[in-house]
Amino acid sequence: MAVYEDYIEGKAANLFLDFYANLENASSSKEIIYARREDQEAYDAWHLAWYVSEILDIHELSKSHKLIFNDIPRKEKNLIVYLLLLTFERPVALLEFGCAMFELIDGIEISEKILTGVETNEKDKIVEQTEFFSIEMSKVMRGGAERLHPNIPIRFFNHVNDLDRNFDLIYDRNVSSYAMNTVDDLVSFMSRGEVGFYNLFVSKDKTFISMRMGKSLTYFHLEELVDRLDKPLYYLFGQKSLGSGTMDFDPSLGHDVIEGFFLNADEAFAQSWLVVAMSYPDVAKWFVEKEIKLTLANALWSI
Ligand SMILES: C[S@@+](CC[C@H](N)C(=O)[O-])C[C@H]1O[C@@H](n2cnc3c(N)ncnc32)[C@H](O)[C@@H]1O
Repeated sequence: MAVYEDYIEGKAANLFLDFYANLENASSSKEIIYARREDQEAYDAWHLAWYVSEILDIHELSKSHKLIFNDIPRKEKNLIVYLLLLTFERPVALLEFGCAMFELIDGIEISEKILTGVETNEKDKIVEQTEFFSIEMSKVMRGGAERLHPNIPIRFFNHVNDLDRNFDLIYDRNVSSYAMNTVDDLVSFMSRGEVGFYNLFVSKDKTFISMRMGKSLTYFHLEELVDRLDKPLYYLFGQKSLGSGTMDFDPSLGHDVIEGFFLNADEAFAQSWLVVAMSYPDVAKWFVEKEIKLTLANALWSI
């Protein structure tokens, strides 16, 4: 099927999405499968439903006049990216690696609305001052992201190797681990961002390749990564990614790993970001609760 020709590296993944029920009135627990999606179709169908719902929820939420800080969805993504955009104090070219429906746009808008507590004029909105880019391999996701944000120009790249420019800010929620399998490739991708906010899967001993959702999943050697980057890498928070493992399979394969959130920025920017964050009492409280700190990643392999 034409829409699904963009499999990662042309390989079909070993992934299934079943729509099933238990056989009615049967003593056995036999399941009847009514529909099955495989490989990229399964991946797209699941994520399409998930992220469209997220956008619809945010739109519903934004109709309310009594929003409070706790209403900001996925603060570890939306709020942090919003605070990073504010820190630049200028229009920002933002790249998301694997934007799905680009629900980040809606997340930034609701974060702004809740944090500032005022209805911002269209032209003053931070989204209006941001240029959006994404590396997104799925045609379904690219089409959905565009149609759900008809007034926002988005430029897509199909593959990380297609990038032809640098960005002020890169956000990557661990798509790097699916798309790359060497520290070299990760470093050359990260060097395209003046600032980068990453959910990285890193290992304290060596780079190794595991698997998740029928795709290869790389844990990058942290020490080698830090040595090779041209800007400091700060560890912010997080040890174990939600949903990275299942009850019977942990992709870390017994290695000493961190599935955490990191900021790659020069020290002046990182400190300014912290000052911006601390200027909002609710954010300051949330940073304490979540134990978000700027710790140089070098400190991690001695822990
Ligand atoms: C889990 S989803 C969205 C994650 C989203 N950025 C977030 O933070 O919620 C991952 C997205 O990355 C895309 N993706 C996965 N591997 C990719 C690759 N190698 N190159 C480009 N896009 C990829 C998928 O199509 C999907 O839309």
